[in-house]
Order: sequence, then structure tokens, then C-alpha cells
Amino acid sequence: MPNVLIVDDEAGIRESLAGVLADEGYSASSAESGEACLDLLSSTAVDVVLLDIWLPGIDGLETLEKIRRLDNPPEVIMISGHGTIETAVRATKLGAYDFLEKPLSLDKTLILVKNAVESRKLHRENVDLKKQLQSKSVIVGDSIPMKAVRQQIGLMAPTDGRVLIYGESGVGKELVAHAIHAQSLRCDETFVEVNCAAIPEDLIESELFGHRHGSFPGAAADKEGKFARANGGTLFLDEVGDMSLKTQSKVLRTLDEQRFTPLGSEEAITVDVRVIASTNKDLDEEISRGNFRDDLFYRLNVIPFFVPPLRERKEDIPQLARHFLKELAATYGRRPREITDDAIDVLMRYSWPGNVRELRNVIERIVIMNPTTTRFDRKHLPPLVYRDVSRRATRDGFSTLQQARDAYERDYILKKLDDNHGNVSRTAEVLGLERSHLYRKMKALGIAAKE
Ligand SMILES: Nc1ncnc2c1ncn2[C@@H]1O[C@H](COP(=O)(O)OP(=O)(O)OP(=O)(O)O)[C@@H](O)[C@H]1O
Ligand SMILES: [Mg+2]
Repeated sequence: MPNVLIVDDEAGIRESLAGVLADEGYSASSAESGEACLDLLSSTAVDVVLLDIWLPGIDGLETLEKIRRLDNPPEVIMISGHGTIETAVRATKLGAYDFLEKPLSLDKTLILVKNAVESRKLHRENVDLKKQLQSKSVIVGDSIPMKAVRQQIGLMAPTDGRVLIYGESGVGKELVAHAIHAQSLRCDETFVEVNCAAIPEDLIESELFGHRHGSFPGAAADKEGKFARANGGTLFLDEVGDMSLKTQSKVLRTLDEQRFTPLGSEEAITVDVRVIASTNKDLDEEISRGNFRDDLFYRLNVIPFFVPPLRERKEDIPQLARHFLKELAATYGRRPREITDDAIDVLMRYSWPGNVRELRNVIERIVIMNPTTTRFDRKHLPPLVYRDVSRRATRDGFSTLQQARDAYERDYILKKLDDNHGNVSRTAEVLGLERSHLYRKMKALGIAAKE
């Protein structure tokens, strides 16, 4: 229920407006002076203030100025019985949303209040989104690989070169894409992202290029595609390796010509878009299997960018863990939390197959699961992280040679799979095994093959 505050020295106006607003579903309160209004605003959340210009004590304009200086101020609609154009202009310059003249027209008042509530909501959403975007592109970590990543972003961001970001799942590819945009000359323009893996095959073309209504069953209205939306800015093609060959050829043409035609349209649209793509697949392999066009690969891969897995930069773990702890405690409205060096030690010994995302999830989980704990210790960490570390210590505890051998083989194969980004054929080659033999072993040892 939006809150409206009525500020007027005439009790009759306060009462009748409050009654009408309450009938319309607002929660209305009132004040008889500028001072009382400011007092109320310091303790209550208000969306819209209806403010009379002529008030005893400090007048409406002065009150308006003070309201505008508040943190997260409400929208203000000025009311005057002696309204002149000049006062209206001054009030607007001071940041008033609009102006009403006495005697008040009920319809006009209600429409203005409704619009002001909406405007404030949009404004707040906008501020929140910008904040989120900024925090989204903060790259934490001072390891040598991450310093190199940052330096490379600084060098490539101001160019208009296409970037292809490689890296395992969860390493921070999307974050790097945001950071490149944020440091580019296009930073004031839009950043549009398309997750090629998440959009069904038959919808992706319409998503990228848009369509005219009626161009296919279900296309009820015209739709602007992401290429058009990103005009002047950056288009991030996330998981580009998941795009079908048909879509790839249309993207290829668009990149070559900076022009495309929406589905069902006759007219081509010219765009100026910087494309950043990302993949966690081995595109060389996808090309050799015939799943990815090599000509598109060369166009996207103008500047290749590799984000290293977390296990190759374990020095970042303490800083990342503390960063997420702070961020997530704030998100869940909890006071700042600490984590002991001992717990950090456990985190640093784990291999993090899901990379930074997995670390963030672990921290999120302990924050949620332990609402009253202020200092997290190793006992708060989930068993997965913990077991991985303690397994080595309990190795002597195996009762049979077979058990010990299985455990060793399992660890060893997992490590090699990890080194080869989960690619079974390559791991088999490294281990000097037939691929089918490795598969059988993995099955026997309970290791899932990831695709
Ligand atoms: N260096 C970092 N500093 C701060 N946060 C990070 C860092 N790297 C990753 N993150 C965070 O980890 C999460 C995963 O990162 P992101 O989505 O960028 O990974 P990704 O490589 O795109 O993963 P996927 O391949 O699964 O899409 C996000 O919440 C991101 O903000
Ligand atoms: Mg991603």
C-alpha cells in the first residue's frame, strides 16, 4: 500500500484528502506544517507528499528543498491556492514532481498521485539495478592470474574488438564480460546478454533478430531482437557453443555486414554492436565434430580471453570467501560475519570443480543455515568440502587393499579429468587407456562423465 503524506494547515483539506486517498487504497497520513512534515519523514517511509505552498513556519518551497536533500526522498506534488506560473516553475526546478491548484480537482489529484507513486517506484528500481550492475562487475582476487586478467581487461576494453571468453563453468566469464563493457567507450550504452544455452532452439533466432507479428505461429506482436536492443552498446552471447548451425550462419552474416533482417520482415536493420561471446566448451573440438562453424569461430575469437579455474589461483580463495560473506550477509539482512583461518584453510584445500560459483554457493549456504553464528569455523562447512580434504587423512583407515586402491584410483582419475576439463577422450589418452576402458572404470568407481 503506497504511503501518501498530506501537508496543509487547513484541517478541512487534510481530512477530506486523507478520506479520499484511503478510499482509493492508499495509506494516508497528514501534517499541519513543514516542520511536522520533515519530522514525520525522518521516521516514516513515505512515497508521495502533497505539499501546500503556504504554510505557517517554513513555507512549502523551503520544505521541498529540505525533502529533496533527504536520502531516498519521496515524490512531492505542490498545492497552492495562489498558484502562479513562477512558483510552479520554481517548485519544478527544486525537484517537485508536479503542481496542483486549489480548489483541487479530485480526478486530477488522484491521477497525479498514482503517477507519482509509479515514478518513484521506477526511479528506485533504476537505482537498485545500477547498483547491482556495478557490484556485478567488481572482480575480486589479487593472485597473479587475476592481476593479469584485470590488466588484459584494461587493455582490450577500450577497443571495439570482439572478445571470446573461455573458461570452465563458474569461473567468472560473465563477470569479465560485464567488466569489459563497463570499462569500454560504450559504457553508457546498454549491455544486453543472451544465454544461448537457455533459449529453445526454435526461439533463438527471434530472440536475437526479432520478428514481425504473424511471421510464425505464436508471434502475436512485433518483437525487437537483442541485436537491435544492443545497438550502440555491447551484446554478450553467453554459451555461444550451444547455438545451432542455422543460427550460427545468421549470426555470422550479421557480424560481417553489421546488418540483419528480423523474421518475417523485408527490411534490413543496420546496427553498431560490439559482440563479446563466452563458452565453457572446447570450440576446437566442436569444430572438428562439425558442431561449430570455423568461420564464425575466427570472427568471434579476435581477442581470446581465458579465465583460469579457481584451483589454479587458490590464493584468491580467502579474499573471495570474505567478499561473498560480506555481500551475502548484507543480502540476507544479517550483521557482518567472520570466518576463521582454520575454515579458510579447509576451503583452500578443496578443488572447487564448480569454481567461484561453487564457493559462492557454499558461503551462501552457511550464511542461511547458521542464522545466529557470527564466526564460521570448519565445522560449519558442508561435508562435501570437508570430506575432500579429510579423505587423505583417513587413507590409512581402509580395511582392504582393494578399497585403498579404488580410493586412490578414483582420486587420481578425478584429478586427471579435472586437468582435462572433464574431456574423457583426452584424459584416456593422457592415462594411456582406451576411452571405453576409462568409461568402464569411471562407472565402476562411481564417477559421472560430464558432458
Ligand atoms: N573474481 C570474482 N570476484 C567476485 N565475484 C566473482 C568472481 N568470479 C566469479 N564471481 C561470482 O561467481 C559467480 C559465477 O560467475 P559467472 O556467472 O561470471 O561465471 P561464468 O563463468 O559465467 O559461469 P557459467 O559458465 O556457469 O555461466 C557470480 O556470482 C560472480 O559474480
Ligand atoms: Mg555464465
